[in-house]
Amino acid sequence: RGLTQDELKTRVGQAALRYVLPGDIVGVGTGSTVNKFIDALAGMKEQIKGAVSSSVASTERLQALGIAVFDANAVPSLSVCIDGADEIDGQGHMLKGGGAALTREKIVAALAERFVCIADESKLVRTLGQFPLPVEVIPMAARHIARRFAAMGGQASLRLRNGQALVTDNGQHILDVKGLSITDPLAFESQVNQWPGVVTVGVFAHQKASVCLLGTAQGVKTLVY
Ligand code: A5P
Repeated sequence: RGLTQDELKTRVGQAALRYVLPGDIVGVGTGSTVNKFIDALAGMKEQIKGAVSSSVASTERLQALGIAVFDANAVPSLSVCIDGADEIDGQGHMLKGGGAALTREKIVAALAERFVCIADESKLVRTLGQFPLPVEVIPMAARHIARRFAAMGGQASLRLRNGQALVTDNGQHILDVKGLSITDPLAFESQVNQWPGVVTVGVFAHQKASVCLLGTAQGVKTLVY
């Protein structure tokens, strides 16, 4: 019997503990894979100082397990950030934001010396963009930004929750853009970041992964970038 996707996520979540050192404040991402990591981290909670979290959801899970959560402004830097991804390529560039937490995820990534991506093998791609690209936007700019993506061949749609525009932890909206093939992630991220009203584009190329722990049928593979 092969491992289920859920079991692969558990394995990589546990494997990520190797990158956590005693006394650390750990940068923690968001998502179902990170939830497995948070559960594993609870077993080390006496050895660490705590965490900086990238979402309300992760904060609640950390605190429920007795792990202290610090304000990002209260810490000078983090040695490691552990987070999932919707896609990761062969150079460690990622596409993120399926959980709508991309802005705080990018901030936590920027604070950390090392980014450890945890993912099952379905996330590994040759070129980013098969997964619709999440972009957090200021609501009044949404239509304008959607037109800019259309000019690049992308189809942007406003992410909904219960029939209403989803509101992020930061009070903004999310566009999901289909039909892009992101062949130069660094240039793409820089370009979209220039557009007025873009809060965060879900391409993580300037803040790419240093390591990916990839859950495969053969076990956890470590990809170093
Ligand atoms: C959250 O905004 C995303 O960037 C997540 O990291 C991503 O969606 C991965 O989530 P799963 O681990 O649930 O696939």
